[in-house]
Amino acid sequence: MKTLTLILALVFLAFPLSASAEKAKTIDELAKMYDSSRCKACHAEIYAQWEKSHHARSLMGFKGGLMLTPLAKKGATAFSPEDPKKATIKNFPCFKCHLPQAITSAEDSVAVELAEALLAGDATKVAKLHIGCIVCHNDKAIIHKRELGEPEKGVLYSTKEVKSHPDGTFKTVKKSAIMDNAVYCGQCHGLGPNLEFDQAFQCANLYGSYLHNYVSGGGTQSCQDCHMKKGDHLIAPNFNDDKQTSELLASALSLDVETLGYDWLRKANTYVPKIVVTTKITSNAGHRIPDG
Ligand code: HEC
Ligand code: HEC
Ligand code: HEC
Ligand code: HEC
Ligand code: HEC
Repeated sequence: MKTLTLILALVFLAFPLSASAEKAKTIDELAKMYDSSRCKACHAEIYAQWEKSHHARSLMGFKGGLMLTPLAKKGATAFSPEDPKKATIKNFPCFKCHLPQAITSAEDSVAVELAEALLAGDATKVAKLHIGCIVCHNDKAIIHKRELGEPEKGVLYSTKEVKSHPDGTFKTVKKSAIMDNAVYCGQCHGLGPNLEFDQAFQCANLYGSYLHNYVSGGGTQSCQDCHMKKGDHLIAPNFNDDKQTSELLASALSLDVETLGYDWLRKANTYVPKIVVTTKITSNAGHRIPDG
């Protein structure tokens, strides 16, 4: 009996964490797993840009609107659970792009806590979850996983290699094959409707428009070329900043107006004033705007 206990104890020592034990059970645990606040100390400028970005509030919607709330409300969407206490990760198909780490690293209990927080309008709790540095520089950095394997633990990925990276957890930076390519952003910015779910739905599909309208028409720039000049992690537009959004749209869209005024001789002695207005709006974005 003693030997058996010892063997069992050894087995537990050798495999202290089963795959499921590694998953976060609460919002705080998931937030901690992906916490990137320490990156701020050395990457202050990038961190400040990111903090203002939509990626930093990917479950909040515009101006703090908590856009996932209908998914927690019984009957409000086809995905909503009967009761928030029964919510599972599958009740939030939006996680595919708005919080990919929930699919790989969270237990269903996180979905329950999120559903309850949404119904209670607890914005502070919901805001703890976002697309931070580690989601982008680790989880989403590899797309050919059959050949290249899963992103490694303790490694960050970027457009270049840094052999010894002075962070306590992420001790090296490896070169990702895709981080400077549009397909990297395309992982979340959508090709079209999400047909892989048992209930199809559509959100962003701007990457489809980029491929089939911009690149096919001879466009040569990547998302990063236009949206991340000098490594800018605001990745504008920031729709919470009305002034900046209208300035960006004004520089992206040109409006040519041509008018022709004339009098139409409708019948004897009756001139009716008429005007022909021809407008041409040209967009220099690499895809349709607005999207969605
Ligand atoms: C103690 C300081 C320090 C901390 C903490 C730190 N970094 Fe770095 N990081 C650096 C330095 C120094 C470099 C190397 C810069 C170079 O050689 O261009 C670097 C490089 C990088 C690169 C590669 C840059 C490139 O040019 O491609 C990435 C990505 C990166 N860090 C992300 C992070 C993230 C994410 C975190 C938090 C999890 C983090 N860093 C934490 C100091 C730090
Ligand atoms: C294919 C990836 C993808 C899926 C799946 C997805 N979204 Fe989105 N969603 C995005 C992206 C990317 C944006 C922002 C860019 C855009 O709209 O072009 C966005 C924007 C939004 C916006 C506008 C708010 C804002 O700040 O931009 C709302 C609301 C939204 N999503 C709700 C949802 C909900 C609810 C679900 C789940 C039912 C969902 N999304 C599923 C990728 C996705
Ligand atoms: C939405 C995904 C995304 C998020 C979130 C993100 N990054 Fe990046 N980051 C990128 C991409 C893509 C590049 C490469 C851009 C390019 O091609 O120039 C990059 C480049 C970098 C670089 C190299 C910059 C340079 O000037 O060459 C550093 C350092 C970096 N990121 C650190 C961070 C830190 C720190 C955070 C968190 C505050 C963060 N990133 C969050 C996608 C992201
Ligand atoms: C992990 C998924 C993911 C990746 C990777 C990603 N994005 Fe996003 N992005 C989103 C989501 C989700 C939103 C909307 C967040 C919200 O609801 O406000 C968003 C918002 C944006 C916005 C703000 C406009 C808007 O409609 O909210 C821009 C611009 C943007 N992304 C560009 C990029 C670019 C460029 C890249 C590649 C360098 C990239 N994103 C990579 C998921 C992603
Ligand atoms: C040729 C430059 C260019 C390229 C390439 C480009 N964009 Fe844009 N993008 C723009 C401009 C210009 C706007 C509109 C001005 C603004 O709102 O910032 C815009 C707007 C957006 C928006 C806001 C959409 C909305 O509903 O208003 C998102 C999200 C976005 N881009 C993501 C991407 C992603 C992801 C890629 C790559 C697949 C990409 N962009 C490629 C120039 C570009």
